[in-house]
Amino acid sequence: MNKVYYLSDLLLEDLVGGGELNDYELCKMISNKGIKLTRMRTNEINKENLNKDSLYIISNFIGLKQEFKSFLIENCKYIIYEHDHKYLRSRNPAIYKDYKAPVDQIINKNLDDNIWHINRVVNVSKSQKIKHPITGDAHPCPFPEELITRIVKMSSDENDIVLDIFSGSGTVFKVSDILNRKWIGIEKEMEYCEISDYRFSCHKGETF
Ligand SMILES: C[S@@+](CC[C@H](N)C(=O)[O-])C[C@H]1O[C@@H](n2cnc3c(N)ncnc32)[C@H](O)[C@@H]1O
Repeated sequence: MNKVYYLSDLLLEDLVGGGELNDYELCKMISNKGIKLTRMRTNEINKENLNKDSLYIISNFIGLKQEFKSFLIENCKYIIYEHDHKYLRSRNPAIYKDYKAPVDQIINKNLDDNIWHINRVVNVSKSQKIKHPITGDAHPCPFPEELITRIVKMSSDENDIVLDIFSGSGTVFKVSDILNRKWIGIEKEMEYCEISDYRFSCHKGETF
């Protein structure tokens, strides 16, 4: 085997938390075994990095470009680790013996054709007013409006009430309003409540 690559959408240097911490721990364990590992962000992958003699550990499959997904699956040796456990019935890996999920616990096995391809939100504070009106701080992880639009449409009718118990920057509020739903939200951080108030006012064209 030529090289071992570790592919993730973000690395711990980019975002400290969640799946990135899982990635970090796993990379450390692999390196401690004396295996040389090259870490790459999925959006940096191109044909030159993909070859039959290397092994790819993929913690973010959905972030790969379609052409590279197909090439990888058809030609390379790979392991899909999926740091966020998106493909397991439980998101808690500790419930499985040795952290290995039995095959019957894996969902969405047909990875390539039942995934929604929606870009994550970038430049939040600049483009979409998802920022605090006084400090200018952005919410760290607003959901894409396109994603919430699909979910709200699928799961409710006009005039229904949509409840978001982790409302963050208020994506659900804005989308629900656009789709003629009412909404209720719960958010534990006051700063994020203020961001969502501001965002909603801007959406309605009101002065904050
Ligand atoms: C992934 S973010 C949600 C992002 C939101 N969908 C958006 O588009 O901005 C999760 C949010 O849940 C909030 N949160 C975490 N635990 C909470 C709790 N116990 N009660 C209320 N909010 C909580 C966090 O502060 C964070 O803003």
